[in-house]
Amino acid sequence: MADLSVRFAGLELKNPLLSASGTFGHGLEMSGFVPPAALGAWVSKTVTLEPRHGNPAPRICETEAGFLNSIGLENRGLADYEATVLASLENTDAVIFTNIGGRTPEEFAEMAARLDGYDQISAFEVNLSCPNVQGGKLPFATDPATAEATIAGVRAVTKKPIFAKLSPNVAFIGEIAKAVEAGGADGITAVNTLLGMSVDWRTRKPGLALVMGGYSGLGIKPVALRCAWNCATSVKIPIIGCGGIFTADDVLEFLVAGCSAVQIGTASFSNPALLGELPALLESRLAEAGLNSIQELIGTLRRES
Ligand code: SIN
Repeated sequence: MADLSVRFAGLELKNPLLSASGTFGHGLEMSGFVPPAALGAWVSKTVTLEPRHGNPAPRICETEAGFLNSIGLENRGLADYEATVLASLENTDAVIFTNIGGRTPEEFAEMAARLDGYDQISAFEVNLSCPNVQGGKLPFATDPATAEATIAGVRAVTKKPIFAKLSPNVAFIGEIAKAVEAGGADGITAVNTLLGMSVDWRTRKPGLALVMGGYSGLGIKPVALRCAWNCATSVKIPIIGCGGIFTADDVLEFLVAGCSAVQIGTASFSNPALLGELPALLESRLAEAGLNSIQELIGTLRRES
């Protein structure tokens, strides 16, 4: 059987499959579908300093090839995350990434400082790119100087690996990737959702109450793959690919494009057990190709025709 383990940013993961933030709750909710040990790592829903009710409904809307969300970072806040989620994960054998969000660079740093002492947390994913807050202006994801300063603030308060989650809603994602690398990120998650909207022409109503939201699913795969490749060719730190990944072949495509691991999000809504099914499918794909280790594929894109 091929070796699915991957090593990057000081982490050793049993496979390159992570849950995408926000699509698995904090992980606990999904353990009936996928045993924690089946995943390379679990990524939490974004946690913020204070509880957030999120945006008005409707805040999920299906489209032709994926869906739009406008959740607005609903969560119970940091104190509740510590008291309930982290407390229940004390003896876990799962690798946990905690995704943190903030309204200012200082808030991101405060979150990381407070969570730094928890051994249950293996890494931070810093959500620079939620399109559903701050009017969709993406202040941390579109300006390289702000992205760098935000990551540098988190870097100053923790030695845990930091992954910066970037937005595809920028002209040159490679520039943002370079900025977060300069700020001290250990890796990049590429990418969050694309800004989109939908309309029902009969009712004249938008699909989402706030009109715009984050578009994810099958339709964004080519954009996400391009963004991941742009990042991988711009920086030396590892990339976790994310966006429209549904199959073992999709996973392997992102690895060839330069990703060290991938996140699965929207696909889990149609098959919540998918993350547990993919390891066996990856093994058989690698066996077909005569490969002993999945690491052999990373960054092997051939550009000659
Ligand atoms: C949300 O809670 O609005 C989605 C999170 C994100 O896209 O970062």
